[in-house]
Amino acid sequence: MSTYGKFQRVSTKTLSLMKKEGVKISALTAYDFITAKLLDEAGIDLILVGDSLGNVFQGNETTLPVTMDEMIYHTKAVSKGVARAMVVVDMPFMSYQLSADEAFRNAGRILKETPAGGVKLEGGRRVAESVRKITEAGIPVMGHLGLTPQSIHKFGSYKQRGTDDDEAREIVEDAKILEQAGAFSIVLEKIPKMLAKEITGSISIPTIGIGAGVHCDGQILVTPDMLGLNKEFHPKFVRYYANLADVLNESFRNYISDVKAGNFPTDGESY
Ligand code: KIV
Repeated sequence: MSTYGKFQRVSTKTLSLMKKEGVKISALTAYDFITAKLLDEAGIDLILVGDSLGNVFQGNETTLPVTMDEMIYHTKAVSKGVARAMVVVDMPFMSYQLSADEAFRNAGRILKETPAGGVKLEGGRRVAESVRKITEAGIPVMGHLGLTPQSIHKFGSYKQRGTDDDEAREIVEDAKILEQAGAFSIVLEKIPKMLAKEITGSISIPTIGIGAGVHCDGQILVTPDMLGLNKEFHPKFVRYYANLADVLNESFRNYISDVKAGNFPTDGESY
């Protein structure tokens, strides 16, 4: 059996080998124990405890309010459900922007207080020193380029990135800078698929795409989005693999009507 087979714990080495051998990497987000357990049992390669929890779990407009304590709390819950997948944790806004020392301290805190296997941070050249410092201490770092939601107030929208030549060049250069700084992988969010293809072919570390087309080495989606839990959010890169909003709505309605009608619980459901 190959080293990226079903029962071996996934590491940065596994992901690197998958890229070399042309095996696509599957990744999804999780914020709680039961979802993480189901993802792991299904054979997912990488679970991201994304700061998207600020949107889909906490109901915020942006990811900016998420704290280190919250990321650690969710990562502890997720990790208990995971036996095989690599667990990567988003470093929240202002946990790494201040200085490389601060980034290093907070990355260390995540690895010390949770069983996660790595951290993710957004940005290219401006975080290169932090990436270097963190990886030199043996902590795997995943980069994140293209649409970087923590910079929403700089960009002013969640629109596609890398559509003009200058920005596209900058993203390609940033990917190379992150690789040189020691990142083990890079998320490419909402960029043209041919740009993602160019980046994927020009670096030796795996690219994980979200809205970045099929040429990336792997794909990631926000799990509540792909489960069809949030009908108000349906960008074209999100494929619905279920329609859980409708399933849950019907279940809740049926429960409410059973309770109101005195049909629940029956004798068989009572002691
Ligand atoms: O926070 C998150 O879930 C992410 C993914 C969109 C890659 O960064």
